[in-house]
Formats: sequence, structure tokens, C-alpha cells
Amino acid sequence: MDLTDIDASAWAELETAAADPQSGFRYLNLCSVDVETRPQARMVVLRGADRSARRLEFHTDTRSPKWQELFANPRVTVLGFSAESRLQLRLQGEVELHGPGSGGTEAAWDRLPARTRMTYTGGPPGDERAFETIDTAAEPADEAEAKARFGVLIFRARTLDWFQLWQQDNRRALFGYDEAGALSFCRWVNP
Ligand SMILES: Cc1cc2nc3c(=O)[nH]c(=O)nc-3n(C[C@H](O)[C@H](O)[C@H](O)COP(=O)(O)O)c2cc1C
Repeated sequence: MDLTDIDASAWAELETAAADPQSGFRYLNLCSVDVETRPQARMVVLRGADRSARRLEFHTDTRSPKWQELFANPRVTVLGFSAESRLQLRLQGEVELHGPGSGGTEAAWDRLPARTRMTYTGGPPGDERAFETIDTAAEPADEAEAKARFGVLIFRARTLDWFQLWQQDNRRALFGYDEAGALSFCRWVNP
């Protein structure tokens, strides 16, 4: 495989993962830097991938700490490892925040299954949980309220660090993308 094939196959894996809950890259680590310059990391579900624009889509609750963190500093690293293909993908770039009511957010909400929409009901993520909401039946969930908290993060990759574990012969390559997503450089590096 040459470098352009490797780049294409990495993005094909990401596109597969966005559609397949069993895929190795379905859950990715979204890493940011908070306002006190502390590193922050959390798992997120890969909801969409577009190889030509080098775009990934994630969903989150706009009341979560990460939303404010990313608003202040949109630079992120997205890290994934597929045990099946023994491949690490480390992408760097920026996220765009699409809050409730924006066009893209509406469409993403409409595509969500009802059980996923329900994850946006309940109290603000990270706040102390009220005792009664753990032990008693939850309040009837209000979907309109949930929708008003739903946010979409669009990540645009500027670099990809590709690392293939191959026993005695690990391989590593770097790829760069321009603003439109076109490949701007690629090279092999020592693993
Ligand atoms: C496998 C897995 C998938 C997750 N997917 C998401 C997700 O898609 N969006 C999200 O906001 N949080 C997701 N979470 C929860 C986050 O990892 C995190 O705990 C939460 O969003 C609070 O993060 P924050 O305090 O940095 O805002 C997931 C957790 C796990 C374990």
C-alpha cells in the first residue's frame, strides 16, 4: 500500500465506524485543553465521518463542561485504537460548535433514535445527582427540553498520525490536510 492508499483506508475505517456500532473506531477519545490549560479527555461516539472534507461528527450536551471548554479553545486531538486492525489513529484539528436550533443540529436530532434522545433528559452533566432521581422512577422525559440541550461538534482534521502495530515491524505515517480537506503532505516516519 502506498501512502495515499493508507490515508484512504484510514478514512474508510472512520466512515465505517460512524455507521457500525461494532467497529473499532466507533468510540473515540476527544481531547481538549481547558481554560486552566489542563488536558481533558473523554470518550465520544463517532456519529458521522466524511473522508473528502476530513470531517468527523460528535454529539454532546451543551450543558457539559466540554462545551464551554471547546468554545474557549476549539483545538482538539481525536484518538482511536482498533484492536481488530491493530491501528492507532491520532487526528488533530479544530471543532465547530453547533448549538440548539442551528440547521445542522436539527437534522442530526431528527436522525437520532428515541433512546439516544433520552440521554439528553435529566440534570446537567457533572452536577451532583439528586438522590431521588437515582432511586425512584424518573420524571416523564420532555423531548423538547432534551432537544434544547443537544449540540453537534464538527471536527475538521488538519493532521493524521497513523500507527500500525505489526509485531517486529511497526509502521507510522503522517498526513496533512488543507482547509478544504485535500491531502497537503504525507510521509513515513519512524514508529
Ligand atoms: C463509550 C462511551 C461513549 C460516550 N459517548 C459520548 C458522546 O458521544 N457524547 C458525550 O457528550 N459524552 C459521551 N460519553 C460520556 C463522556 O465520556 C463524558 O464522560 C461526558 O460527556 C462528560 O464529559 P465532560 O465533563 O468533559 O464534558 C461517552 C462515554 C463512554 C464511556
